[in-house]
Amino acid sequence: MAPKDPKDKDTEKSERPGFSRRDFLKSAGVGSIAATVVGVAEGEAQNTGPGPRINGPGDVPVTLTVNGRRVVLNIEPRVTLLDALRMRADITGNKRGCDRGQCGACTMIVDGRTRYACSTLAIEVQGMQIRTIDGLSTGNTLHPVQQAFCDADALMCGFCTPGFIMASVALLEKTPKPTETQLRRGLDGNICRCGTFVRIREAIVNVAQGVARG
Ligand code: FES
Repeated sequence: MAPKDPKDKDTEKSERPGFSRRDFLKSAGVGSIAATVVGVAEGEAQNTGPGPRINGPGDVPVTLTVNGRRVVLNIEPRVTLLDALRMRADITGNKRGCDRGQCGACTMIVDGRTRYACSTLAIEVQGMQIRTIDGLSTGNTLHPVQQAFCDADALMCGFCTPGFIMASVALLEKTPKPTETQLRRGLDGNICRCGTFVRIREAIVNVAQGVARG
């Protein structure tokens, strides 16, 4: 077979039916920019009409009740509760571990139930009671669960501890004397990579049995 004329490449390109990969990427880029612009314009237009209000994509006022205090922020609607509190309100007790709802380090109590703050939008928990590890102690007196964790040496690196304590508090408020199964289930959304599970469970049992100080 005769070698191809180098010019064939251009000839092939111009004769090939349909889009090249480059053409596709170019048009997709233009399309997505156009969609974004249309989306923003539509959102603004709809907010002038009688339909439901569309928030964002820019900053909007968000009012949260955190540990009994009112926190007013101007943030984008896509900001998570964890980021809103840690980055914008200087409430940093709860930690970011995985940032994808797997480790439980960010666990807070919202209206009495545990929530992963990394997977909860701040805007969606307006009007709810948000509790973080920062609000548990009273002055210099630790919450009984915090004290029990210290007494049982239920932490190693400590990074997951705020989430575990919030999950434990939620468990004990709902079930003051949990069975072993209830205890394990109450903590099954939290992971300690250092492996302090035995001592964490011991701390909770101590609180349930009234052994813990605090
Ligand atoms: Fe939220 Fe891991 S940081 S679950």
